[in-house]
Amino acid sequence: MAQKSASKADSKKSPAKKSAAKNAGPITSPLNDSDSDITGRALQDTLLDLIDLHLVAKQAHWNVVGKFFRDVHLQLDELVTAARGFADDVAERAVTIGVSPDGRASTVAKGSGLPDFPSGWRTDGQVIEAVVGCLGEVIARLRKRIDETDKTDLVSQDLLIAIASDLEKSHWMWQAQLA
Ligand SMILES: [Fe+2]
Repeated sequence: MAQKSASKADSKKSPAKKSAAKNAGPITSPLNDSDSDITGRALQDTLLDLIDLHLVAKQAHWNVVGKFFRDVHLQLDELVTAARGFADDVAERAVTIGVSPDGRASTVAKGSGLPDFPSGWRTDGQVIEAVVGCLGEVIARLRKRIDETDKTDLVSQDLLIAIASDLEKSHWMWQAQLA
């Protein structure tokens, strides 16, 4: 019994050791280990959502058909550009606080919170509905992370707020086409 509780205590200690080792990497963090862990996770998870958003928007850009093809096709590329730019900002903020970002395809496939986007041709209406759904999900997840980073890193939180503000505006513009 005593041995069991000792090993439990050891395993409780290991995450702290792990995070200290992470912050002992080549880039120093302005944050303590705990704040860096929480903020780094928020940035990493946002990175995965944004990379997936860019991929979904490109998939839709290529596969959209219908009466409003041209408008939707072009609007999707605006979303691609925004998502790619924000992904870069978020990844580089993670680096700045000493956290190595992971934007590999396999990590995105496992960790993105976006709903699946179907393969094949999609009508303009189907694409607009899907984009509204994806943006709604990305925004809801971003808002949770804005709360989580409120006490850990206001600079990273500020970046997440700026991204949410832009994506919420985009969400409105996509929704307006469904009315
Ligand atoms: Fe194109």
